[in-house]
Amino acid sequence: MSFPVWVNGSELGCVDPADRGLAYGDGLFETIRVAQGRALLLEGHIGRLVADAAVLGINFDEAGLCDEYARFLGHCPDSCITKILVTRGCGGRGYLPDPCAPATIIFSSHPPLAHPVGHQVTGINAGICSLQLALQPMLAGIKHLNRLEQVLLRREMEELQVDEALVCDARGYVIEGVFSNVFMVSGGKLHTPAIETAGVRGVMRAAILRQAEQDGVPAEQGLYLPSDFLAADEIFFCNSVNGVWPVRMLVDRHFSPGPVSRRWQAFWQEKI
Ligand SMILES: Cc1ncc(COP(=O)(O)O)c(C=O)c1O
Repeated sequence: MSFPVWVNGSELGCVDPADRGLAYGDGLFETIRVAQGRALLLEGHIGRLVADAAVLGINFDEAGLCDEYARFLGHCPDSCITKILVTRGCGGRGYLPDPCAPATIIFSSHPPLAHPVGHQVTGINAGICSLQLALQPMLAGIKHLNRLEQVLLRREMEELQVDEALVCDARGYVIEGVFSNVFMVSGGKLHTPAIETAGVRGVMRAAILRQAEQDGVPAEQGLYLPSDFLAADEIFFCNSVNGVWPVRMLVDRHFSPGPVSRRWQAFWQEKI
């Protein structure tokens, strides 16, 4: 089975060493789960890509990208993970972008992840990272290519020997997981950290918040400390590749994946 990679519409394309995505992380990416040949939550991914590109002033042809991605999907295995990566294109040595440089668009496909079934069934073992996210309201929410913090956090997770971990910002408030967003259930309500100073505004998080609103389920976005999560009734992590992972252990506190986590797992299963 082959997992194609296309650069600017061609399997033979390659990335220029002068690409600003490489030099400065000057670009964006989306990681999209493909099941039965369908790209899940595609509207949300394209919507975020377009919105984030507008904030950063990266120009690309949305309709052209969507058509090309649909063509690319036709060459991918029915079950895989795809990435769309858009950079500001090539530039000279300095930071100042060339406003005429065309964006670089990379599509890649990857084997589906093989996480233990237990992650879904009995829940995951989660920790709390000591490394903190910098406060940067200008970039908060955006899925840009500067992922050095996550690289270091992912290494810390290996030391903690956990399946995911809460990550706080420099003020000590929980923002998200290392590669997911996070929700807790407390006082009969859903709570998820506000993404205003740091973190990624996840497509799966947005889908859950939207559905909760439609269902009349109270959901709040706020400032929470790790101690709030340790005192919660339920916790679950979510992203658009793994769906929903309930927590069975956070540091030394046991949880049972409860009805709310199960409800959002079912929501994800419907999408698959
Ligand atoms: C740091 C971080 N936060 C949150 C998410 C969740 O985003 P999404 O739901 O769009 O997959 C991801 C996904 O990769 C991530 O890397």
